[in-house]
Amino acid sequence: MKFFVDTADIAEIRDLADAGLLDGVTTNPSLVAKAGRDFTEILHDICAVVDGPVSAEVTATDAAGMIAEGEKLAQVAPNIAVKVPLTIDGLKACRHLTGNGIMVNVTLCFSPVQALMAGKAGATFVSPFVGRLDDISQDGMALIEDIRQIFDNYDAIGTEILVASVRNPTHVLRAALIGADVCTIPPSTLRQLVKHPLTDIGLQNFLADWAKTGQKIG
Ligand code: G3P
Repeated sequence: MKFFVDTADIAEIRDLADAGLLDGVTTNPSLVAKAGRDFTEILHDICAVVDGPVSAEVTATDAAGMIAEGEKLAQVAPNIAVKVPLTIDGLKACRHLTGNGIMVNVTLCFSPVQALMAGKAGATFVSPFVGRLDDISQDGMALIEDIRQIFDNYDAIGTEILVASVRNPTHVLRAALIGADVCTIPPSTLRQLVKHPLTDIGLQNFLADWAKTGQKIG
């Protein structure tokens, strides 16, 4: 499963990319607003650090506007994936942009049939928002199970499932068990994945016992 980081914070992206953990990046208008910088500059900085797909979301709501914005965003770098919302206009824009060789990430997906529509529109990725479904007492990961089953029924659907709105390591675990293609993870949650108290305790005990030997390596 590919790991994307869900942020527009270039310092976080550089740090995690240095650890070799990143297969891509997703941004959205809220994350860009949080970064407080020029959108195009953010995208240039990210694409200079990460070779994998970098999602950049349009803000137009009509197909023609989405296409125009998407073509501008795609000019930033070849690894830009244009993000469009899961609406009829978004699907029209998706069909047009992918038809011209531009990667498209169809976002704000909350149902299996929405994901099926994105697959039929030729989306490169579809982003089901699991955390926001959990927030209203639905099981967001059940949506991923349904989409996985649907997409696996049809060879013609080449869309990758990009699990989004991830809030905790359990979302990542279940996404991997289900066989999602990508998980886009907030930086803090990505760092949480490596943590376990028994690892910390075990390392401390190894080092304490080693110190007793009085030896040094090298
Ligand atoms: O990429 C989509 C993601 O940023 C949404 O996450 O936590 O705002 O639901 P969240």
